[in-house]
Amino acid sequence: MCGIVGYIGHRDAYPIVLKGLQRLEYRGYDSAGIALYDGANLNVCKTKGKVLDLKNKMEAENITEGNIGIGHTRWATHGVPNDVNSHPHYSNSGDIVIIHNGIIENYASLKQELTSRGYTFESDTDTEVLVNLIEDVKKKENVKLGKAVQIALNQTIGAYAIAVFDRNKPDEIIVARLGSPLAIGVGEDEFFIASDASPFIEFTKSAIYLEDGEMAIVRLGREVRVRKIQDDTMVVPYVQELQMNLEQIEKGGYEHFMLKEIYEQPSAIVDTYRGRMLVDKGIVRMAGMDDNIEKFTNAKRILIVACGTSWHAGLVAEYIFEDFARVPVEVEYASEFRYRNPIIDENDVVIAISQSGETADTMAAIKLAKSKGAFVFGVCNVVGSSISRETHAGAYTHAGPEIGVASTKAFTTQITVLSLMALKLAKAKGNMSHADFHYHLQELDLIPKKIKKALESNEHIKVVAKKYMNAANFLYLGRGFNFPVALEGALKLKEISYIHAEGYPAAEMKHGPIALIDENMPVVVIATKKGHYEKVVSNIQEIKSRDARIIGIVTEGDKDVRSMADYVIEVPDTIEAFTPLLTTIPLQLLSYHVAVMLGKNVDQPRNLAKSVTVE
Ligand code: AGP
Ligand code: GLU
Repeated sequence: MCGIVGYIGHRDAYPIVLKGLQRLEYRGYDSAGIALYDGANLNVCKTKGKVLDLKNKMEAENITEGNIGIGHTRWATHGVPNDVNSHPHYSNSGDIVIIHNGIIENYASLKQELTSRGYTFESDTDTEVLVNLIEDVKKKENVKLGKAVQIALNQTIGAYAIAVFDRNKPDEIIVARLGSPLAIGVGEDEFFIASDASPFIEFTKSAIYLEDGEMAIVRLGREVRVRKIQDDTMVVPYVQELQMNLEQIEKGGYEHFMLKEIYEQPSAIVDTYRGRMLVDKGIVRMAGMDDNIEKFTNAKRILIVACGTSWHAGLVAEYIFEDFARVPVEVEYASEFRYRNPIIDENDVVIAISQSGETADTMAAIKLAKSKGAFVFGVCNVVGSSISRETHAGAYTHAGPEIGVASTKAFTTQITVLSLMALKLAKAKGNMSHADFHYHLQELDLIPKKIKKALESNEHIKVVAKKYMNAANFLYLGRGFNFPVALEGALKLKEISYIHAEGYPAAEMKHGPIALIDENMPVVVIATKKGHYEKVVSNIQEIKSRDARIIGIVTEGDKDVRSMADYVIEVPDTIEAFTPLLTTIPLQLLSYHVAVMLGKNVDQPRNLAKSVTVE
């Protein structure tokens, strides 16, 4: 989710808000906008594109006056990136204006209710529904803006960081957060609002970080008043003196974007299944699939096309779809598929996976599949990206911007979406009982907490990285659902540390690669308790007898592998199909720490681009 900035005080708001949005550009975004109150009029300017485009538009339209203003960089979730869907959004009366980071899950039912009461909507966004809900509450209950926001938010389900103000009372801004960050900069007779402190750190180091479920009334001439959204109880705000510099703030205090994004995976997965997985009701809701379910249930096979890490996610999906839904799945490198004259027709469903939604090979594969009559479903992270517009339908991963070139949260959120799809298809085809379906949802619901647990091995993984950072080659071995994770772990190491690494099915070693084994070869073996554990243990014995250095990725409490390996890294237990979501975590951290220790440019490795938009 993207960025919000606000200002109220004795200075001109425009230059502060604009520069604040520029400071937040690192978070990635597709459009931007600013609202200013100039003492007489509430002026809003917004545009698809970059903050520079917004600047040019505002100055061309001479919208620069006022000492209260809010600005937004959008990472679209509901409504493609265009001028109308950009923020800020007005209420119907034109009095109230809002900016929002996050997702209002129940926006559709709220929109239906408001429409029935005569409200109209210009945009396709969930945010415009929220600002009109606030206006509706304010009118119906005859309350002040702050109270109206509090009541309205208690009617919403989802995640938000919002800033709202009313042109009829331009001496206060109401802010609130649940699931998206929001900080208040406290200056001398002025206040700043932002997603993180980077927009205001040059003006003040005094900051209040709202906690989830809190809101605040930021009014000139008095202290910030913080209260709990749920019951309106007052909260004593903690004003902290910031020590971080600008660069540290942009990375959330992490040394690199890649590490920040590794640690964002629990919340990214929650955002990915938010509104889609209703565990208590035993429902998986995915509009793009719901509207085309017959394509999936009638498909004689599913083809998956992707590149790189997304291709690895596709391989995991092959095991999951075939295990859950009993439908044949083939996974193809998009770059191979597009040139080999594949046999494909209208009975095929193609799933195209792409974080950026701009990968040229994947786009070409999609066009080829469509030309042969196949139904093509996209799994992308960037709303409105070329691939998301080219496919017949799709589902977004909602991982938020992934800045590091090495894909991490994209991989786990792709597997999350694909797992939900496989479960939905299994249920639709009658291949999974309701009880089993519900059990899988419950287990998927626990994954974010289990990833947090796996992340606790970070310090131990640093020790392993230091031990083997100078190896010339690594091998990564896995079986079943974790064979693709072995490939992904090897790719992570290769692309950021430049050490050669290969992933293999564990049993494949004896067909040649075991000749590589000696005391200089670290072998990472994924040996979780599920699946063919005993087989993997015997594979470990085979390579141990050839003096390999063994790093075992094991289930918490494992003793067998621990007795044979040089190092073990534990992950929590889960059902076999979901182990890739956990076993990939230590491999991400291992490659990250090796690369850092080798002094490599972790976020922008040599020769690589975040999106390969050329052949
Ligand atoms: C993986 O860490 C790399 N960033 C690369 O392999 C990437 O996964 C591949 O280029 C595909 O990109 P896409 O998901 O944006 O299509
Ligand atoms: N869900 C809102 C939209 O799609 C906000 C997205 C964001 O966090 O930027 O406009």
